[in-house]
Amino acid sequence: MENNVVRIDQVDPAIEARVEELLERMTLREKVGQMVQINDSDLAGMEKAVQAGEAGSILSIHDHRKINHLQHIAVEKSRLGIPLIVGNDVIHGYRTTFPIPLAEACTWDPPLLQKAARAAAEEASACGTDWIFAPMVDVCRDPRWGRIAEGSGEDVFLGMALAEARVRGFQAADLRTGRRVVACPKHYAAYGAAEAGRDYNTVDVSERTLRDVYLPPFKAAFDAGAGTVMTAFNEINGVPATHNLLTVQKVLREEWQFRGVVLTDYNAISELVPHGVAADLREAGRLSALAGVDMDMMSSAYSAHLVELVEGGAVPAALIDEAVRRILRLKMQLGLFEQPYAEQELCEQFTLRDEYRALALEVAQKSMVLLKNEGNLLPLSPGTQSLAVIGPLADDRDAPLGTWAGLGQAADVETVLDGIKTALGGADRFTHVSGCSISGNEPSDFSRAVAAAREADVVIMVLGESADMSGEAHSRARLGLPGRQQELFDAVHGEGKPVICVLMSGRPLAIPELAGQATALLQAWHGGIRTGRAVADILFGAVNPSGKLTASFPQAEGQIPIYYSHKNTGRPVEGTGTLQFDEPFKSRYIDVPNEPLFAFGYGLSYTTFTYRDLSVETPVLERAGNLVAQVVVQNTGDRAGDEVVQLYVRDLVGSITRPVKELKDFKRITLGPGEEQTVRFEVPVDRLGYTGLDMKYAVEPGKFKLWIGPDSTQGLEGDFEVR
Ligand code: NOJ
Repeated sequence: MENNVVRIDQVDPAIEARVEELLERMTLREKVGQMVQINDSDLAGMEKAVQAGEAGSILSIHDHRKINHLQHIAVEKSRLGIPLIVGNDVIHGYRTTFPIPLAEACTWDPPLLQKAARAAAEEASACGTDWIFAPMVDVCRDPRWGRIAEGSGEDVFLGMALAEARVRGFQAADLRTGRRVVACPKHYAAYGAAEAGRDYNTVDVSERTLRDVYLPPFKAAFDAGAGTVMTAFNEINGVPATHNLLTVQKVLREEWQFRGVVLTDYNAISELVPHGVAADLREAGRLSALAGVDMDMMSSAYSAHLVELVEGGAVPAALIDEAVRRILRLKMQLGLFEQPYAEQELCEQFTLRDEYRALALEVAQKSMVLLKNEGNLLPLSPGTQSLAVIGPLADDRDAPLGTWAGLGQAADVETVLDGIKTALGGADRFTHVSGCSISGNEPSDFSRAVAAAREADVVIMVLGESADMSGEAHSRARLGLPGRQQELFDAVHGEGKPVICVLMSGRPLAIPELAGQATALLQAWHGGIRTGRAVADILFGAVNPSGKLTASFPQAEGQIPIYYSHKNTGRPVEGTGTLQFDEPFKSRYIDVPNEPLFAFGYGLSYTTFTYRDLSVETPVLERAGNLVAQVVVQNTGDRAGDEVVQLYVRDLVGSITRPVKELKDFKRITLGPGEEQTVRFEVPVDRLGYTGLDMKYAVEPGKFKLWIGPDSTQGLEGDFEVR
C-alpha cells in the first residue's frame, strides 16, 4: 500500500519530461490559468473559463455529474486538454461522518485515524474529489477559537503523529480506477494562535514559537508525503501568511525543500488589501506570486492580473513556470491525465459502506472521554434502573455531525436517544424530555423535566453545543453551556437523583459548576453519525471508555490560553488552588487556580491501571542515541480496558526557557483484568531539541526529568542526562 502513495518529493524522470513537454506548448495565459482555482455559482462562467484554459482547479463541487461535465470540457474542449484537479473539504469523513477531528485526536490512535482518513478519501475520491483540504494541523491552545474542533488540540508531538497518520491515510486511497488523492495540510501557518480566539484575528508569535510549536505538524505532514499546503488567512508578526517570505520561501521551499503545490485559502490574496499590505488586488497578486504561492483560491487576483504583471516585468516568467510545473506534476502523479472522470457506479459503491460505518463507530467509541464517574455510577446495568433522558441534544440529529460535515446527513445520524432505545430494547423503559432549546434564552418550563427526574432512579442529561457553535467564524467568548441549559441542569439536579451528563461540543467548555454537580460526565464531542450507538455502548458498559483529552478544559475563560506545556516563569507557584494569601507575588490568579478543570491527557476508564517499576535504561545519553525507558502497567480492575501510556520530559536548564513538561511519546495498550505489560519507549534524542539562542534546532546537553503516566499531571518520575 505504501508503495503506491503519492510522493511529490520523489522525482520521476518520465513525469518530469512530460511536464516540460507540456509546459513548452503553453501560452502565458494558459500557464496562469493553471494557477487559478474557481467555483462560480454561474455554471456558464465556469464552463467558459475551463474551456479557455483559464482555470486549473475547481473546489467545493460534490456532484460527480457536475464534476464530470466540467472535466469533459477541460479534457475535450480546452486547447491543451489539461484535466482539472477537484478540491474539497473532507474534514472528518465525506458522506460517512466521523467524529470531529478534535474528538478523533482523543483516541490517541494513529493507525485507527489513518484508516479513518483512508475511508474518507476513498469515499470522496470515488465521487470525483482529487484533492482533500485536510488535515487541519493547526496547534490550538485557545478553546474560544471555533476551529479548535478541526484540529488535534494543543500538543505539538501528538499533532505531528496525527498529521502523519492522516496524510498517509488520505494519500493511500487507491480505487480500482487508479485514481489517487492528495492531502493539503492547513492552514499554513499559526492560524490557531489567533488573538483572543477570534477567527481570522492577528497572530503575533516569536519565530521560535513558530518553529517549535506551530510548524512541526506541517513538517510531519510533508515528511509523510503531503503534496500540497494551504496558506492561512491570518498575518504572522505583521506579514499575512499568503505572502509570507519566512514561512513560504525560507522555511517551506529552502529549508524543507518542499516540491508540492502552495494553494491559498479562500480569497486570501484579495484579503491582503484589508490586511493593509496591498493597495489593490493587482498588488496583492504580485506579492503572493513573488512569495511563491502557486494557486489562487477564489480571489481572481491571478486571473485578472498575473499575465499583465509578468508581461510588465513585475513578476518573473520563470516563477510562473515553476508554479505550473508543480501543478502539472501533481496532476500527473494523481493519474488525472489517464483517469480524469468520476464514475457513477464507483461513487454509489463507495458511499456509506458498512465497513466505513463500522469504522466511524469504533472511532466514536474511542474518542469519547469519561471525565467523572463518582461512585462508579457508570456503567449502568441495562436491567435495573428506571431512567429519565433529558436535554435538548438527546434526540438531536444535527449536532452530532459537527462542523464541516462534508456530505454528512442528519438522516444518517443515530441520536443518543436512538442508542439508548436500542440498548434497552424499547422506548417504554425510560422517559424523554428535551427541557429547553440548545441556545435560546426564551423562558422555558422545566417542570416536565423535573417531574421526569423525580420519577427516575438515574437521570441522563445530554447537553452542550450545536454543530454551528464551533468551526470557521464561530468563536465564542463565553464557554459555558449555551442558552438555559445550565439552569435546566440545576433544576433537574435539585431533585437529588444521580445525574449522568453526556456533553456534546466542538471544543473544551468551561463548565466547573456542571462538572462539580454531575455524578458522571462523559465528553462525547460531536461524534459523527454513530454518536448515539457509541454513547449507549459506553453508558451501558458494552464498551469501556478510553479516550483522553488533547486540549485542556479551562476552569474559566480568563485562564486562556491554557496548555499543559507552559513555561515555569520566574515565580512559579508551589501548591495548587487559590493560595494568594499564602503565596504572594507568585504567578497565579487570586480567584481561580492555575490548573485546568480537566488536563491534557486525562480520561477515566471503567477499570483502573497502576504504574510501577519505572526504569530508565539510558541515564546518560549521547546526542545521537535513543532515550530508552520502560514502565510496568497493570490493569487492577475487573474488566478489560485500553490505556494511553504517556511519556513526558522536562529539560531542566536550557539556553532558552523550557516548558514544564513536553509529551515525547505515547502508546495505546489493551489489558485484560489483572493483566500487566511492560511498556517500553525508545525516543530518539533528536526529538528533545528546540530552537536555541542562535535560532537553530539543537539538543542541548544537560539534565532532564522524565515522567511516564496516565496524563499530563501524574506519572512515575525518572531522570536522565544528555551529554
Ligand atoms: C476556508 C477555510 O478556511 C478552509 O479551511 C477551507 O478549506 C476553504 N475555505 C475551502 O472550503
